[in-house]
Amino acid sequence: MPPTQHTIIFGNSQQMPELADSSVHLMVTSPPYPMVQMWDNLFVDADQKIAQLWQQLTADCKEETVTQLYEEMHLNLAKVWSETYRVLVDGGIACINIGDATRRVNSKFRLFPNHSKIIEHCEKIGFTTLPYILWKKPTTKPQYKGKGAFLGSGFLPPNAYVTLDCEFILIFRKGKLRHFPPKDPARYESKLTKKQRDEWFSQIWQITGTRQTTSQLERRTAVYPDEIADRLIKMFSIKNDTVLDPFLGSGTTTKAAMQNERNSIGYEKDPNLLSIITKKTANGNSEQAFVKIINR
Ligand SMILES: C[S@@+](CC[C@H](N)C(=O)[O-])C[C@H]1O[C@@H](n2cnc3c(N)ncnc32)[C@H](O)[C@@H]1O
Repeated sequence: MPPTQHTIIFGNSQQMPELADSSVHLMVTSPPYPMVQMWDNLFVDADQKIAQLWQQLTADCKEETVTQLYEEMHLNLAKVWSETYRVLVDGGIACINIGDATRRVNSKFRLFPNHSKIIEHCEKIGFTTLPYILWKKPTTKPQYKGKGAFLGSGFLPPNAYVTLDCEFILIFRKGKLRHFPPKDPARYESKLTKKQRDEWFSQIWQITGTRQTTSQLERRTAVYPDEIADRLIKMFSIKNDTVLDPFLGSGTTTKAAMQNERNSIGYEKDPNLLSIITKKTANGNSEQAFVKIINR
């Protein structure tokens, strides 16, 4: 296999002018999660309309303001899904790791089903929804009245809530199935083992979450485990394909692409993450991988 190329672009992935139409084979990503507190500021800073709605919510406490705010956050993410659709090849796959959110807004505890909003927006863009994966995280504690761990009274029905201990890995395809020449060598070299096929193409993945380090910067990236990116890349691309992550964070997808002989492109808005990305990708690097960093 020829050496692989890895480009990290510090810039907003709502526009990817660096990438030609139909030039990417797979997207693997995890965006900021709407209505999860740690991402509030990112959404507010990203969009004036969202900022205005936050202010309005504090003043009017109206349910329709919450609904509008939630929709605007998803419209903001959908700009990236649209741009991804443009750059994917026909038959290219998009994998999106997303968690639903629970939150008390206007004194009412409720669920914000981010996974279904993303499906709705991606289908509008033209993607076909495929069966998804539930990533079961054993670490999350059960909740009582949305306030964290169950208290003793959590045993008494009916006022406790089901814990969000799964995240979704949504899977979409652009257009029809990808076609390959008969006996394509790269495809055959990318063949999965029977164990991988049997375990990975099932709907529930039990994978321990990545331990977040204590640095605030690293906590803010909400890293997903290497294992998630590694499996998805092996399942939905072949050697020498190009993998895109439009919300790169600490660089997990780039590292997995390097280790699996795929090319990669990662977009990250926050330039402070450079040192974390450099450190992580150095672990996945080999003499067979070239890295280019672009500051827009
Ligand atoms: C959930 S984190 C990704 C974590 C990543 N999967 C990892 O393992 O490190 C989302 C990242 O997307 C970045 N981000 C948010 N909006 C962006 C945008 N429009 N363009 C580029 N990066 C963005 C954030 O700065 C954050 O680092």
